[in-house]
Amino acid sequence: MGVSAPTASDLASEIRRLAREKQAVILAHNYQIPEVQEIADHVGDSLGLALEAAKTDARIIVFCGVHFMAESAKVLNPDKKVLLPNLAAGCSLADSISPESLEEWKERYPDHAVVTYINSTAEIKAMSDICCTSANAVSVVRSLPNEKVLFTPDRNLGRWVAAQVPEKQVVVYDGCCPVHDVARGASVRKVREMHPGSVLIAHPECREDIIAMADAVCSTTGMLKAVGQFPEARTVLIATENGMIHQLKKRYPDKEFIVADGCIGCRLNCPYMKCISLVEVERSLREEVFEVTVPASVAAGARRALERMLAVPRDH
Ligand code: 13P
Ligand code: SF4
Repeated sequence: MGVSAPTASDLASEIRRLAREKQAVILAHNYQIPEVQEIADHVGDSLGLALEAAKTDARIIVFCGVHFMAESAKVLNPDKKVLLPNLAAGCSLADSISPESLEEWKERYPDHAVVTYINSTAEIKAMSDICCTSANAVSVVRSLPNEKVLFTPDRNLGRWVAAQVPEKQVVVYDGCCPVHDVARGASVRKVREMHPGSVLIAHPECREDIIAMADAVCSTTGMLKAVGQFPEARTVLIATENGMIHQLKKRYPDKEFIVADGCIGCRLNCPYMKCISLVEVERSLREEVFEVTVPASVAAGARRALERMLAVPRDH
């Protein structure tokens, strides 16, 4: 008789045992599958996890998120081992800008400060003046002495920030996250009509038409706080990746959360965020794979842009 596969509970116990034995901290993004969120030491948005990575005294950081997040953790912790449990965990938004195209945009707008969303490679960060996340983008742009800003790579976040900071001239690069950008206002409106009295909370990576009808616009962790502003709402529509529902449901068990889909029924789903399961996390800790490294020549510039960002307070 063959050996049966370990259960989810066996894997979870083994992961926690390995993490203790190896002095590892497990960080998980809000979009990870619930089982992975449950075995993590910290669950959060990009900014929260970057802050945890910056202050940890663990020997190993296991990053259950996507590559740019693990890379940022490595840049902030050059002496620690940073592991990404599945190397397929990329990000289409980070891939939407290359060093060559950023160079071209910088040449076109030479007197602009470059603000780069953390959803980008270390190489792109190193070419930027400062980074931001969806949780601090407005404060980051406001904090700059420059009046002219080139915002890269997300056009939806860039446009939303530009509207919040009318005193600055913001030029927006033309990248996007296909998971969020696929959602359309007309479809979200239909979902809303099906749930009278509901409120809509949107991630700023959504298109302008959705942002315009949202009751709150915020980062993933910002959504947890934002729901508290609507105590009367029984149903909350969420315009972001479906993994977010897990933390929302834990915090507000009496409310109903519905992913406000671009097309009803498809549920916004990021395949990169979903390619890490407990099996990958256990293997990652046991074999200490897959190590994320950043060349020193790139890391120095990326660290400068990230640390400058970390000195700016959160928007929400
Ligand atoms: P947050 O920074 O809000 O966690 O979002 C990250 C992300 O990848 C959104 O698609
Ligand atoms: Fe990247 Fe979009 Fe996935 Fe976030 S949801 S990790 S921006 S592809």
